[in-house]
Amino acid sequence: MKQNVVGELEQLRASARERVDAAGDQRALEDLRVGLLGKKGELTGVLRQLGSLPAAERAAAGAAANQLKDEIFGWIAERQAALEAKRHTALGDTEWVDMTFVPNPVRRGHLHPLTLILREVKAIFSRLGYEVALGPEVEDEVHNFEALNIPAEHPARDTMDSFYVDADQLLLRTHTSPVQIRYMQSHKPPIRIIAPGAVYRRDATDPSHGSQFYQFEGLVVDHDIRLSDLKGTIEYFARSLFGPDRRIRIVGDHFPFTEPSIGAAVSCGLCGGAGCRSCKAGWLEILGAGMVHPQVLRNGGIDPDHYAGFAFGAGLDRLAMLKYNVSDIRLFLEPDVRFLRQF
Ligand code: DAH
Repeated sequence: MKQNVVGELEQLRASARERVDAAGDQRALEDLRVGLLGKKGELTGVLRQLGSLPAAERAAAGAAANQLKDEIFGWIAERQAALEAKRHTALGDTEWVDMTFVPNPVRRGHLHPLTLILREVKAIFSRLGYEVALGPEVEDEVHNFEALNIPAEHPARDTMDSFYVDADQLLLRTHTSPVQIRYMQSHKPPIRIIAPGAVYRRDATDPSHGSQFYQFEGLVVDHDIRLSDLKGTIEYFARSLFGPDRRIRIVGDHFPFTEPSIGAAVSCGLCGGAGCRSCKAGWLEILGAGMVHPQVLRNGGIDPDHYAGFAFGAGLDRLAMLKYNVSDIRLFLEPDVRFLRQF
């Protein structure tokens, strides 16, 4: 019996050494460790037989088994270190990184120039306490024309004639001015809003006209509102947007919904007002404006004997063209990255 156990241990020593040295990777080595030394492992199996040995022999066989156990641990650790070293040496071939490689750079997008301008306009007017109001792009004739003093036979209606969508009753709004009416009808003074958005006209397309473009409307209604308030507002707006050196020119104009009506221009930033190719004798027109016509206030449900107001309307595309020196309004609606990337 004793011979048996010692013989088995000797056999196990030889085969274990061989198998540990042959293990090709960490995984195989771990399987081997469990197979040899684990609870159901080969050495454990031999150890279990010790109980049936006579006491005198048990001690010697036990010591031999424990020694073998230590030896196997040692071989496994050795083999593990060898495998690890081999893997490290191989890393240079299997996991190298080309430090000179330049991947395709990720191009970051950015905001459209009209969005940039709109954000700036909103920021300027919010500093003056204005809120942003919106109205529908599909309008009825009352809000787009009649309530703004533009009756059916009014000549303004010719040029402003638009895209009708429903039996001559609904149309794509030709300006943002109808938001004035809608806002007055649903709010009491004091009113202080800008109303930006898309507008549509049946204009032939050219470098300064498109059938779709953007405007923003301004409306202030309160007690004691005067033309000088309007002028100061325009001045503050133009200098905030175009720079502190710009001068403002106010000229008489005509709009059916304002009385008196004015047009505002800023001095040209390129020639400083002397006159050059990109301006009209030194001036760039930026908006139409005026004191809100009493009848328009009435149409909005506001008593012109107690309140007065001013309004203004500007083309966002035009402001963007002036600020960024864009020569063709059509570029804003064309998805041409060569243009868009410049902002
Ligand atoms: N609605 C006008 C247009 O589309 C612009 C405008 C002029 C708006 C004078 C106003 C204003 O509010 O007072 O051409």
